[in-house]
Amino acid sequence: MKRGTAIILSNTMIAEDTYEMILKTEVTDDADCGQFVQVQVPGYYLRRPISIHRILPDHQLSLIYKVVGDGTRVMSEMAEGEALDLFGPLGHGFPVLEEDVVLIGGGVGVPPLAETAARYRSKGRNVTAVLGFNNTAAVFGTEEFRELGCNVIVATMDGSLGIHGTVIDAIKEAGIHPGTVLACGPLPMLRAVAENYNGYLSLEARMACGIGACMGCVVKTPDGGSLRVCKDGPVFRTGEVVL
Ligand SMILES: Cc1cc2nc3c(=O)[nH]c(=O)nc-3n(C[C@H](O)[C@H](O)[C@H](O)COP(=O)(O)OP(=O)(O)OC[C@H]3O[C@@H](n4cnc5c(N)ncnc54)[C@H](O)[C@@H]3O)c2cc1C
Ligand code: FES
Repeated sequence: MKRGTAIILSNTMIAEDTYEMILKTEVTDDADCGQFVQVQVPGYYLRRPISIHRILPDHQLSLIYKVVGDGTRVMSEMAEGEALDLFGPLGHGFPVLEEDVVLIGGGVGVPPLAETAARYRSKGRNVTAVLGFNNTAAVFGTEEFRELGCNVIVATMDGSLGIHGTVIDAIKEAGIHPGTVLACGPLPMLRAVAENYNGYLSLEARMACGIGACMGCVVKTPDGGSLRVCKDGPVFRTGEVVL
């Protein structure tokens, strides 16, 4: 894990309230798909956890984030050339298995699946990416997954683009029968994924330390035990934790 100052190379709006920030940082060394970084937003004490979207050549790191509160709003107002303190890579990400996979992403759960798709495609695996959004204005990343060679299926809740409904509706309507799924998105989506399929889920939790020390991000296991989202996750096997 590395801590240090990253330099913002670009910070661009890519969909409604959604930005891609590309940073120059040593954090890219040893980073895996599905891991995250803790971003120190200027003026705020608690760091904001953001998933690694892509690890690019020349120590460039891409993050995609949605403006939901004060911290992410300040991030969205930062400009090229400014410095941002961050540390990572943190947590256990998605496994890169010797099999074809179905990736399931909802909203800003989509970003960590892009690096994951790249890792699977570089091993020659077939990847289907089922990407769900509320509406067309919220959609991003579909072209990136196509360029990586994935079979891309888009679903919107209002039916304005792709299949009308949830990612589960889209999988069923497209006639896909997933073996292993890798999913990231809002909790109701992850619950529905776990009820229908087997694989791995990336969870969100409010975090303080981000390194396993404060127990602020604990989730329960079915046998009454506890696991930390920041250190033991954020990626867990389906059934490993209570959703
Ligand atoms: C492992 C992990 C990966 C994430 N990856 C992404 C990503 O790639 N893109 C993205 O847009 N968002 C991601 N999130 C959610 C992101 O951390 C929150 O949206 C962000 O912290 C909100 O900060 P804020 O100051 O704008 O909101 P505020 O509501 O003002 O934040 C107040 C506090 O609550 C925390 N908080 C608020 N919402 C969340 C949340 N959903 N999860 C965790 N902490 C939260 C903040 O970090 C802050 O400490 C991720 C969360 C986790 C745990
Ligand atoms: S945030 Fe401190 S243990 Fe996870």
